[in-house]
Amino acid sequence: MQIEENKSLKEYNTFGIECSAKYFVAVTSVIELQQILSEKKFENRFIIGGGSNMLLTKDIDALVIHLNLKGKKIISETDSVVTLQAMAGENWHEFVQYCINNNFGGLENLSLIPGNVGTAPIQNIGAYGVELKDTFISCEALEIATGKKRTFTKEECNFGYRNSIFKNEEKGNYIITSVTFQLTKKAHKLNTGYGAIKEKLAEKNIQKPTIAAISEAVIEIRQSKLPDPKKLGNSGSFFKNPVISSEKFQQFKIANPKAPYYEISATEYKIPAGWLIEQAGFKGKRFNDAGVHKNQALVLVNFGNATGDEIWQLALKIQQAVKDQFDIYIEPEVNIF
Ligand code: EPU
Repeated sequence: MQIEENKSLKEYNTFGIECSAKYFVAVTSVIELQQILSEKKFENRFIIGGGSNMLLTKDIDALVIHLNLKGKKIISETDSVVTLQAMAGENWHEFVQYCINNNFGGLENLSLIPGNVGTAPIQNIGAYGVELKDTFISCEALEIATGKKRTFTKEECNFGYRNSIFKNEEKGNYIITSVTFQLTKKAHKLNTGYGAIKEKLAEKNIQKPTIAAISEAVIEIRQSKLPDPKKLGNSGSFFKNPVISSEKFQQFKIANPKAPYYEISATEYKIPAGWLIEQAGFKGKRFNDAGVHKNQALVLVNFGNATGDEIWQLALKIQQAVKDQFDIYIEPEVNIF
């Protein structure tokens, strides 16, 4: 394990923000991670997995630990299901592809989401009608303060929409080292109800989709709307879709009869933040190197040399404009540091 000083983090965050870590180390095993956590010299630690859900607005005055834990193994299997464990540093999309190639069903709708396996539970990643929690069994983690191992069951993770215990009570307390999933080997439960998937499968004339066909459809949809972080720095959806009360929704609907919405329950409605931001006039707008993606207004982008603070100032401007126009507060999904 080599500890570097004043290391650039540009390659380690998908926004491609230039900022530096006072100290930096990449760990390749849980034992190495425990060793570095027991090192009292570094009191402040900052964990980076895939770096896909963070906006860095300043240099990190801490030991940045990059989780490079690799590997996957089958814990148990029957004729119909497999219980599979993947280490935190596995790239999410490569893991999904591995599952599809082995005909393990359940993750296909989550194809092409940037980031790593270990960060997926933190925000309960989701897309096209599926969330991580649907196949999640448990995860293993190390407590940062003590280096002790702990297993979190699904119930303990307290998953919600882009939310979990790791963004709330246990924020900053644990490092997820592996995640265990239960996937199907046959009679896959296909999720093709989401409008865009239905349309894509119809366009390709696929009547009986396989998990591979669904994954392909998702990849095509995502590629058409969402920028590839390798080409254009971004962190996926920057904001969560806001949830409003039915009273507020009734007024909103009268003022905005054409707005898309999802009914969550009898008392709550979700409004796509992308639509609100587009209506507020920000879609495709650019301020120096910070901008709003031209195909999906929910995605903020770095055209090259934007600072984290420039992106953050743009986010605040958008938040204020949406509040002024619709009296709706949109909350960042991305973690701001
Ligand atoms: N819309 C606009 N303008 C825009 C963007 C969207 O009018 O610029 C409208 C669309 O026309 C559509 C609605 O908003 O009627 C919803 O758009 P979309 O289907 O693209 O999904 P989203 O609600 O904007 C969410 C997730 C995405 C996920 C997609 C598909 C959140 C915060 N985002 O986006 O997740 O891929 O659904 O399931 O829930 C991510 O979290 O990083 C992410 C990309």
